[in-house]
Amino acid sequence: MTGVPDITLNNGVTIPQLGFGTFQIPPEETRETTLAALETGYRHIDTAEMYGNEKEVGQAVRDSGLDRDDVFVTSKLDNGAHAHDDALRAFDRTMDDLGLEYLDLFLIHWPLPDRGDFVETWRALEEVYRSGRVKSIGVSNFQPNHLRRLLDNSTVVPAVNQIEVHPYLTQDAVRSFGAEQDIVTEAWSPIAQGKVLDDPAITRIAERVGRSAAQVTLRWHIQRGDVVFPKSVTRKRIEENFALFDFELTEGDMGDISALNRDERTGPDPDRFHG
Ligand SMILES: NC(=O)c1ccc[n+]([C@@H]2O[C@H](COP(=O)([O-])OP(=O)(O)OC[C@H]3O[C@@H](n4cnc5c(N)ncnc54)[C@H](OP(=O)(O)O)[C@@H]3O)[C@@H](O)[C@H]2O)c1
Repeated sequence: MTGVPDITLNNGVTIPQLGFGTFQIPPEETRETTLAALETGYRHIDTAEMYGNEKEVGQAVRDSGLDRDDVFVTSKLDNGAHAHDDALRAFDRTMDDLGLEYLDLFLIHWPLPDRGDFVETWRALEEVYRSGRVKSIGVSNFQPNHLRRLLDNSTVVPAVNQIEVHPYLTQDAVRSFGAEQDIVTEAWSPIAQGKVLDDPAITRIAERVGRSAAQVTLRWHIQRGDVVFPKSVTRKRIEENFALFDFELTEGDMGDISALNRDERTGPDPDRFHG
């Protein structure tokens, strides 16, 4: 029992709402850090070919002693592999590197709207999905116009859209479009890589509830219903970020944090990012 709720995706597969992010964890630290997360109780790991640490993530999952079915693993397609056959090869590469029999979730990492056609890329993901080697497929950094184009030209509805979300970028339009289409929102950089942690509105709530600013921010995501996977290489923070299920924010707290929105990205704008 980890206390982490499961969310059911549009194909019936369940995903733990809280996971562990591995962006910017150097490969030489990834096995140990991922094992620390699994020991803490995380059962959902988010990686990508671009992070350069899939091998070590797979090693940690295999070395953890946990049943494969008890850990949810996500990876993402490299930006250089959007052409149909390149995408199929990239998926094979990811599976070889992870050393796992199947993947839980595979995402198109960025839409790259000016660099080819993500509908063609999606066809390759649909083929892999039908082969059974991945349990669910989805997208990342898709804006509503990208999602609309995908939905109009494909058969499988993405299970998730993984986008940047935090108190300074609440992403109301993308999240509500996703909800209408039964696409779960996953929030990346959920604490804005630390930038929101000194905000007085958040520290005030943190003081009142006796929790850290990171915990309050992550709890805000959980109560909004998004999937989150904070990253940390620090054991104490890995544990802190996991302790989110024995306190609650009031509606007032939720509103105060949402009101911090200023549409401020820490990462690239998906319409302008070319990979
Ligand atoms: N799909 C995409 O395009 C995309 C883009 C970016 C990220 N992601 C995914 O989302 C995950 C999370 O995003 P992120 O890694 O960019 O940022 P994040 O989780 O918002 O923040 C990570 C940073 O915050 C620090 N931190 C973590 N917990 C803390 C705590 N309790 N107190 C104080 N500082 C804390 C970490 O430091 P230490 O590590 O030094 O402890 C690290 O510098 C990624 O790892 C990746 O899996 C996806």
